[in-house]
Amino acid sequence: MRTTGAVRDFTDVPVDDATVVSILDDARFAPSGGNRQGWRVVVLRDPERRRQVADHISPVWNEYVAQVRLGETAYSTVRPTAADLVEARRQHRPNPLLDGIERVPVVLVVGVDLGALAVMDKDADRISIVGGGSIYPFCHNILLSARDHGLGGVLTTFAARVEPDLKPILHLPDGHAIAAMVFLGYPRQAPTRLKRRSVEEFTTVDRFDGPPFVDNPSTG
Ligand SMILES: Cc1cc2nc3c(=O)[nH]c(=O)nc-3n(C[C@H](O)[C@H](O)[C@H](O)COP(=O)(O)O)c2cc1C
Repeated sequence: MRTTGAVRDFTDVPVDDATVVSILDDARFAPSGGNRQGWRVVVLRDPERRRQVADHISPVWNEYVAQVRLGETAYSTVRPTAADLVEARRQHRPNPLLDGIERVPVVLVVGVDLGALAVMDKDADRISIVGGGSIYPFCHNILLSARDHGLGGVLTTFAARVEPDLKPILHLPDGHAIAAMVFLGYPRQAPTRLKRRSVEEFTTVDRFDGPPFVDNPSTG
């Protein structure tokens, strides 16, 4: 967990199928609501299909860059963007993973059967967050296992924004969604120290505005 950072730059060394199977064999032990295990994985091999997918995703990356450049949380549901997304989509922003998708050692598309999702907050007066909890632990397990196998990788969600375009390319079944794409390979660089907030910055006692939860020896 402490060293599984996002890796987006891979060597040309191929990753054999046995390794990918082994990674997925670890990842399948992820938790999911009701243990429904709604994940489906496509190992995207065909270079032409990869190119088609990347060509649909690239404009989303362009939008993303425009929002980040304004200091925004991209695609926030609580704060509308000040970026002109229509214009942004047209301005190509380099992205080595997408521009060179044919050379990425492993490209996985993680889909999910919506019928397998127990979504406790489905009637909430805000965006639902719980459904993702039954698919993203699986995605993160892929990254953790990849690290254990000496690989690195990155989880991306751009594909979800163009899911209707990707559906016919990937033959995504009705009632399914694209949760993520995961890119894997042998990292060009060793992992660096990850930047994360400290426990006391996000943990409080009794209330969300309570005192910081810190290790206090007097409480045993
Ligand atoms: C839900 C989710 C979506 C993400 N989407 C993308 C993405 O579309 N493209 C990308 O390059 N990285 C993506 N990431 C990776 C994050 O950028 C990365 O986890 C974060 O910047 C921390 O990087 P670090 O682990 O190297 O410190 C995503 C991560 C998560 C958990």
